[in-house]
Amino acid sequence: MKLVTCGLPYANGKAHIGHLRTYIPADVYVRYLRLKGEDVVFICGSDCHGTPIVVNAEKEGLTPSQLVNIYHEHFIKVFDALDVKFDFYGKTVEDYHHNRTKEIVKKIYENGYIYSKEIDLAYCPRCERFLPDRYVEGICPYCNVPARGDECDQGCGRHLEPGEIKDPRCKICGTPAIFKKQTHYFFKLTAFKDFLEDYLNKVQGTENAINYAKQWIKNLRDWCITRDLEWGVKFPIDERYVVYVWVDAPIGYISFTEKAVKDWESIWKEGKAEIVHFIGLDIAYHHCIFWPAMLKAAEYSLPTAIVASGMVKIEGKTFSKSRGYVVWVDDDYLRANLNPDYLRYYVASYTSHERDLNFSWDAFREKINRELIATFGNFLYRTLHFAWKNFGEVKMNVDNEILEKIRDVRKKIEEFLKKWEFKSLCDSFMELASFGNVYLQSNEPWDLVKFDRSRAERVIANCLQIAKALIILAYPVMPRSMKKVSECINLNLEKCKLDDVEKVDEKMKVEKPIIPFEKVDEKKIDELKKVVEKRFLREEVSIEEFRKMDIRIGRVIKAEKIEKSKKLLKLKVDIGGEIRQIVAGIADNYKPEDIEGKLITVLVNIKPVKLMGVESNGMLLAADVGEKAVILIPEKEVEPGTKIK
Ligand code: MSP
Ligand code: ZN
Repeated sequence: MKLVTCGLPYANGKAHIGHLRTYIPADVYVRYLRLKGEDVVFICGSDCHGTPIVVNAEKEGLTPSQLVNIYHEHFIKVFDALDVKFDFYGKTVEDYHHNRTKEIVKKIYENGYIYSKEIDLAYCPRCERFLPDRYVEGICPYCNVPARGDECDQGCGRHLEPGEIKDPRCKICGTPAIFKKQTHYFFKLTAFKDFLEDYLNKVQGTENAINYAKQWIKNLRDWCITRDLEWGVKFPIDERYVVYVWVDAPIGYISFTEKAVKDWESIWKEGKAEIVHFIGLDIAYHHCIFWPAMLKAAEYSLPTAIVASGMVKIEGKTFSKSRGYVVWVDDDYLRANLNPDYLRYYVASYTSHERDLNFSWDAFREKINRELIATFGNFLYRTLHFAWKNFGEVKMNVDNEILEKIRDVRKKIEEFLKKWEFKSLCDSFMELASFGNVYLQSNEPWDLVKFDRSRAERVIANCLQIAKALIILAYPVMPRSMKKVSECINLNLEKCKLDDVEKVDEKMKVEKPIIPFEKVDEKKIDELKKVVEKRFLREEVSIEEFRKMDIRIGRVIKAEKIEKSKKLLKLKVDIGGEIRQIVAGIADNYKPEDIEGKLITVLVNIKPVKLMGVESNGMLLAADVGEKAVILIPEKEVEPGTKIK
């Protein structure tokens, strides 16, 4: 038996394409195992704890539990729409999860791996509270890049322990935090150094995560596992605290298994099943270090494999919700009515599982229209259409050479599956489709049928066998589309096994075929591109970045037209003891005499440029009203040189 799990999505925001790099390959993997006849349990659920949830709930005027319910339902809907089918999808707020977490934490405590210690923690003197995790922002002590609470998300990616962040500030009120002492509980991670070394040499999965983890073992420190918060699983040894979210979240893998299968103990306590975790590389530390050590300390079974994907980028930019580099699954993709199988195919086949994956709408359109439809869809449709039109029922005399080709491809796919190489696996069935196209094209059954009907029937029988193999082999990647096509050849995919690709029936009855894939519409893609581009512009800036801009009120002393330019005016502006020459694109809307003497707003420290040969030492700020500009004027008289902040 195999248990397959996916990193639990935070029930804190909408599903985006980055998430799918975990869920789609895992679903593909499970569907292949089932085609091979293996007994698989596939589970996941919402990660409902942690400070980001409390912070966001506050922001949206909801209770944490209301917020969590909204996004829990959202993820269920998205998984359903994409045919990601878990046997059980749970929630870490449920009692069964809290109980399992407490049981495991107690066990670890009884086994002597938890101790308490007084530490210095970030404390906000204004809010009068300790600042756990996402309540604090500051600088990463390792790489000096802005970091948030427990994670250096923009720099080195390290997990940060409480008290480690430099220059902490309260995220809620912006006040610089002070350090204050509080007692917390620690997990003796350092006691697991030898165990982890040994384990990481044995565990299967992708090398990216495991190689990183081997590096991390060198600098293990004990791990603070409690937080001063209301929201979370109560720490059973000292109920003033809750456990850190990364203690209870992975325990979801166990508590959800309890809900999915009666005999969950044979999996999690007796080691009678293989446990395979699908995650993204961003959470490799938690899965390769914390999690196995916790399981060992609590005497539970260890994961057999950790399969970590590379990260998703959007249009070549590092994925970031705050910067707008994001594609939402529901709002963008599903709402545009695009076939979910296209996204499954793109995510599974774009690049090797371990590498970063770039999502771009242009690449998406090309991949679907020129690759999937031109090769795979085209072969299926031509074959089925020809068979239906000329025969209806085909005697299945299939050449050995064709069966061998099919067997080869099937074997390759099984090999790639073992190595988590989803791209190569997709390439393999695409190669079979190309082979089919070449075979069909070179044997020209449309000519043969006019003078040698039985040879034409042999050719099309070979093509039909290839088509059947393709439908079965591509089913795990594109379940919805393959199911539809399978009906044209009366194939019941639910009962199919991988071996059936080589099984030859006596006859095959072919119904009038449907077009398996609709082309992706150029216009639709152009619109989607615009949506993403617009979001890019809404990049978040910090107050520090804003303060770098020297914006002041200035008075226009003189304005004149620039020859040969319809748009530009040359202005002399008093910016407070200094007269600057500024070129502004406002001539459409203002005559020189309209603006002379007026107070305007100027970005003073912008790099000088030459416009139509005239030097400009500043930028006039204006509202962009279509073609025309409307200048910004202060509501009351102020001195030229007054700063804007
Ligand atoms: N809640 C934690 C996981 C707890 S597992 C015990 C979490 N949640 S998440 O919502 O941020 O991510 C859910 C899954 O999506 C994780 O497997 C994560 O690695 C993956 N991805 C989220 N964003 C991603 C990208 N931009 N790119 C690739 N995968 C990423 O982490
Ligand atoms: Zn860092």
